[in-house]
Amino acid sequence: MITIKSRKEFEKMAVAGQTVAVVLATVKEAAVPGVSLKELDAIAAEVIRSQGCTPSFLGYHGYPANICTSPNNVIVHGIPSDRRLVEGDVLSVDAGAIFEGFHGDAAITFPIGEVAPEVQLLIDTTERALKVGIAHVIAGARLGDIGHAVESEAHRQGFGVVREYVGHGIGRQMHEDPQVPNYGKPGTGTKLRKGMAICIEPMFNLGGHETTVEPDGWTVVTADGSLSAHFEHTIALTDRGPLVTTLLSATDDDLAVAPRSG
Ligand code: MF3
Ligand code: CO
Repeated sequence: MITIKSRKEFEKMAVAGQTVAVVLATVKEAAVPGVSLKELDAIAAEVIRSQGCTPSFLGYHGYPANICTSPNNVIVHGIPSDRRLVEGDVLSVDAGAIFEGFHGDAAITFPIGEVAPEVQLLIDTTERALKVGIAHVIAGARLGDIGHAVESEAHRQGFGVVREYVGHGIGRQMHEDPQVPNYGKPGTGTKLRKGMAICIEPMFNLGGHETTVEPDGWTVVTADGSLSAHFEHTIALTDRGPLVTTLLSATDDDLAVAPRSG
């Protein structure tokens, strides 16, 4: 069932979304060589609680951590372990928070230090695909418009588009209808309307699109061992148009102006 959210409910989603944005920015800052994935998980938990939110992943279908940390060939749902980051790793971090019963969900991928140009291209292309997808979140557009726009970015570069895992509606539940695939035909699929909120989350691979789940039942890896990137935002379709609730808004720091000299 697709749920339609009120303005009040979107305001709660915006608080959850800002918390997720702060979590991702904080974890990215902390993700340097020598830091373990479990340490990143602890940092995320601290930020989520300090913002008055609850981590939505913890306990979700038995998931054992606060965030997902997915290095290199891991596409999504990597469980934070004692593995320590090394220069040249590519790390995807996915986080979710609940504020007064409403969810925010987002993910980023970034390199640890220097990576090869093709790896940076994979990361940049996946992020651009998310932006292009978000540009289609307007009342009257269809999910096929989003999926087609997203997959076109990958095809242009020859990257594999993951099909088994998709974006989703979001609200009181982290995963609501409709499913939001990263592929599709323009003009087809569910029509977007005001009050809907969706997560768009492209997952692109340097190699093929096929996936495998590791024996822990969570960790999704590329079947061919190639590197993978994942970006995600939560987008609310408000009366005034799309609101990306998980976009980090300007902070006092960003607004600070250096004193003029002379
Ligand atoms: N954020 C993921 C998604 O986009 C969900 C994480 S699954 C969990 O759907 F089990 F880790 F919570
Ligand atoms: Co999601």
